[in-house]
Amino acid sequence: MCGIVGYVGRRQVAEVLLESLRCLEYRGYDSAGMAVINSKGVEVHKRVGKLNALADAIKRHPIIGHVGVGHTRWATHGEPTELNAHPHTDCTGDLAIVHNGIIENYAELKERLVGRGHTFKSQTDTEVIAHLIEERLKRHPMGEAFRLALKELRGSYAVCLLSAHEPRRLFGARSGSPLIVGVGKGEAFFASDVPAVLARTRRVLYLNDEEVVVLSAEGPKVMTLEGQAVTRRPSTVNWNIAAARKGGFAHFMLKEIHEQPRTVEQTLFNRLSVERRQIAFDRHTQTFLNRLSVQEKLVIIACGTAYHAGLVGQYMLEEFARLPVDVDLASEFRYRGPMLDKHTTVLAITQSGETADTLAGIRLAKEQGAKVLAICNVVGSSIAREADAVLYTHAGPEIAVASTKAYTAQLTALALLTLYLAKRRRGVGPARWRELVEELARLPQIIEQTLRIEPAVKLVAEQYASPRNFYFLGRRYNFPSALEGALKLKEVCPLIHAEGYAAGEMKHGPISLIHNGWPIVFVATHSPVYDKIISNIEEVRARKGECVVIASDGDARIKRYADSLLTVPQTSEFLSPIVVAIPLQLFAYYVAGANGCDIDQPPNLAKSVTVE
Ligand code: AGP
Repeated sequence: MCGIVGYVGRRQVAEVLLESLRCLEYRGYDSAGMAVINSKGVEVHKRVGKLNALADAIKRHPIIGHVGVGHTRWATHGEPTELNAHPHTDCTGDLAIVHNGIIENYAELKERLVGRGHTFKSQTDTEVIAHLIEERLKRHPMGEAFRLALKELRGSYAVCLLSAHEPRRLFGARSGSPLIVGVGKGEAFFASDVPAVLARTRRVLYLNDEEVVVLSAEGPKVMTLEGQAVTRRPSTVNWNIAAARKGGFAHFMLKEIHEQPRTVEQTLFNRLSVERRQIAFDRHTQTFLNRLSVQEKLVIIACGTAYHAGLVGQYMLEEFARLPVDVDLASEFRYRGPMLDKHTTVLAITQSGETADTLAGIRLAKEQGAKVLAICNVVGSSIAREADAVLYTHAGPEIAVASTKAYTAQLTALALLTLYLAKRRRGVGPARWRELVEELARLPQIIEQTLRIEPAVKLVAEQYASPRNFYFLGRRYNFPSALEGALKLKEVCPLIHAEGYAAGEMKHGPISLIHNGWPIVFVATHSPVYDKIISNIEEVRARKGECVVIASDGDARIKRYADSLLTVPQTSEFLSPIVVAIPLQLFAYYVAGANGCDIDQPPNLAKSVTVE
């Protein structure tokens, strides 16, 4: 979703803003702009399309200045045009604002402001904020006008304001959308996400909802929306800019796929000890989990890929921890009137920690007295801060829109959680528990080994680059893998329609579409339903569908059922979704590559979906 940046300091601001905006490209956008303050007043430049268009415009007409705001827009209200691109200005042109979120009451505010003589230039909800501040400025000083205007907004926002009335300062605030402050030496930054400031500083201040910041080169002054001062110290980010760059790979997606042995290791780090036969978390999380271990029900909520991880988690937790689990799409959960109470724990799974539906879901859960645990990748994100306990995945920054390493890290965290609870709930015998723990400890090496099939996956993917429809089928633990394989492919290759199904569901409808040459990717690794999957493959072959089969190494029987065979190291079914994720991710990547798709920033998609 939209990316916001702001800078106050001694450097030439246009350069800093462009560099920071590039680090937010992964969020998805369709236009970009910036506003800078200088002797001419507030200067605004906007362009439709990629950041290069804005960079070229600025190269032709350089803007000088040391204070400014920048924005990448992912259109919600109004088409992606130059007029609708941010920053938006008030009638005087002295104020320029950038915004991420949705102002729900913008229509009524706009009507009122038009009635008072304001002229609007765009179709956006954002522009009302600039005019509201202008209105308040008639009676109040800048900072107060900003705060009072924000109090009139309903919906979600992260905003940064540049004002000719206070040329050495920026104003920022958040409510429901992410905004962080980077604190450098004699310079300071606003940004939607940490990578945007990492080239300059690792000292970051995470804002809470309804907090307002006045930012100068000396640093931030934080207050509540009511104007009360807030004291908070910046924290130090423990990863650097190198982690947020491509490192020689053609795409972030490929880099992140290859990072998985290491990221899984990071998720396990300090938590799993085979020698001591122990799984442990930090004290706070452990206290929380000990309480959960005597509870009767867990509800998992998540969106997209994280939802698929939740579905795998349901198989894991029910089989080994014997804990009843419901899994809900967060966007449905919040509207279905769920019955929760203090005996329920809600587990939110999220890479970004900012997904609006998941955030709303945990707020609803807390209102109803449930406790909230989060599996989250981004430290300091909204969900991480609002949850009662957090199991961080520590996968590092995930930049590609299509989630890969965050997914396997989520599955690894779920495996840890399952085995921790399984021991306390006596869901599994000690010998089997130990076997699973030992296998989990070997997972980084197993993934390393799995990555060796990349050339084989590439060949198969290139062979299947032209079909426009795919099915992905699996059963039990790998039914969610099928959903995830299909999601990955349609995300990164928008030319293709891909559907994931439980293989046993085929005969209830989807099989009707299968005809000569229709490609079906089967996940058929060893499991208690292996024979049933073979029957499903037979059904498809009888209708002349083409089967790409992902099976376990050493499976001699499967060969005659597969038009194309990809094999992965043998594991327990418990960990197989993590291993089969690798060929599924690579398959999507190489099919998209063969089709010339924009892999890291697929059209219409945003990395972090911060609106409903
Ligand atoms: C995954 O490839 C997608 N980009 C998307 O489905 C994502 O998983 C979903 O939007 C949830 O995001 P979150 O994990 O940051 O909450």
